[in-house]
Amino acid sequence: MSKTAILELDGKKYEFPVYVGTENEVAIDIEKLRGATGAITIDPGYKNTGSCNSEITFLDGEEGILRYRGYSIEELADKSNFLEVSYLLVFGQLPTAKQLEQFENDIRKYTLVNEEMKTILEGFPKTAHPMGVLSSLTSALTAFNPKPVNVDNEKELYDAVCKTMGKFMVIATWTYRRRMGYPLNYYDNTKGYVENFMRLMFEIPTEPYKMDNKVVAALDKLFILHADHEQNCSTSTVRIVGSSHAGLFASISAGVSALWGPLHGGANQAVLEMLQEIHDNGGDVDKYVLKAKDKEDPFRLMGFGHRVYKNFDPRATIIKKAADDVLTAMGVDDPLLDIAKKLEKVALEDEYFKARSLYPNVDFYSGIIYRAMGIPVEMYTVLFAIGRLPGWIAQWKEMRLNKEPIGRPRQVYMGENLRAFVPVEKR
Ligand code: CMC
Repeated sequence: MSKTAILELDGKKYEFPVYVGTENEVAIDIEKLRGATGAITIDPGYKNTGSCNSEITFLDGEEGILRYRGYSIEELADKSNFLEVSYLLVFGQLPTAKQLEQFENDIRKYTLVNEEMKTILEGFPKTAHPMGVLSSLTSALTAFNPKPVNVDNEKELYDAVCKTMGKFMVIATWTYRRRMGYPLNYYDNTKGYVENFMRLMFEIPTEPYKMDNKVVAALDKLFILHADHEQNCSTSTVRIVGSSHAGLFASISAGVSALWGPLHGGANQAVLEMLQEIHDNGGDVDKYVLKAKDKEDPFRLMGFGHRVYKNFDPRATIIKKAADDVLTAMGVDDPLLDIAKKLEKVALEDEYFKARSLYPNVDFYSGIIYRAMGIPVEMYTVLFAIGRLPGWIAQWKEMRLNKEPIGRPRQVYMGENLRAFVPVEKR
């Protein structure tokens, strides 16, 4: 028997359908609420609001579960690779060997970025934050690819996916090259996607580039861990911008801006800056823990807490181990890592953090690995964006194929009632 929820308002009872997701998540369908009752719901931060049905990612914050298309993040991080996971997210199934090879080759068709994009890049000051530059360059890609994607044409949609994967990787690394004053690099179609990231970033014309396979493997894993996370701030942004039928590049550009904030993807940069600050001020971890607990002090421990995970972040567990492996393999002895470990220990044992379920999240450890890899701190969130790209694409595609309506929340107006205009001389 199908369930219903009953709402009583002003003495009248209304019934709303209740449905259950494939992992038993219960949802009250209030689509007809306003039409029936004249009332709306209010839910700041959308803590209780499901904005869509989705088949892409399952996340259980209480149990610490994360799955892409039904496969556990632990298994994917262990056995898969980033391009395979990207294919899985976007197209719904693990690719066959032939499909995967085809996908990689099709991405390669689009790895050349229009030379005129360089003029746009040169317009930015070298000091510009790479995330701002990346968002602008992604949007600028629309100018060079003005034809909107016909989502009902499978081939056009597939090509748009490959084009976005190819060009985004290149422009993401260009933001760094510009900052460093290095000549811009081209993608090498004989090499892998993640290998190309390292080359695009670090290869310079004056000497041969030596690839460290351990670094490439760790980075591949990090990209997998970041690849999707259901309806987070940047993904919801991508879906909502796309719901107006704005193009894929425009929607991804908006996602990059949303990711930039320190409460979202920008936290990985903020973590490292926080660790550096603690180090530079004598390494007194307890002092910063006290600051984080002080309600009069706006300081928060960056890299702790999560909107959805209230037990542990499964990505953090994997990444913590990867951080240990990478740092040991690279022989890195980093004073910031020692501070991170102390901070983690104190926070995990402190009542304030325990009571609020504030555990280290994915961003707490990723910055430490990036630092060991020699990636500059301003680029950390760009790496998050490269990892999250297939998730954004998959969610945009799902939203368009499901023919979702334009995203347009309502509000409760709390401002002035009607009042007469007062001429300036009488105010
Ligand atoms: N340090 C100190 N106190 C904290 C922290 C923190 N990092 N995070 C939350 N709290 C406290 C907060 O003050 C509040 O206390 P009280 O109940 O006494 O008022 C309580 O915990 C609940 O916090 P909230 O802000 O209502 O929780 P939220 O679900 O709205 O925010 C969050 C989640 C991730 C924005 C927040 O925990 C935070 O700001 N963390 C630091 C930034 C960070 O690491 N962000 C990366 C998130 S993971 C990557 C991603 O997916 O984007």
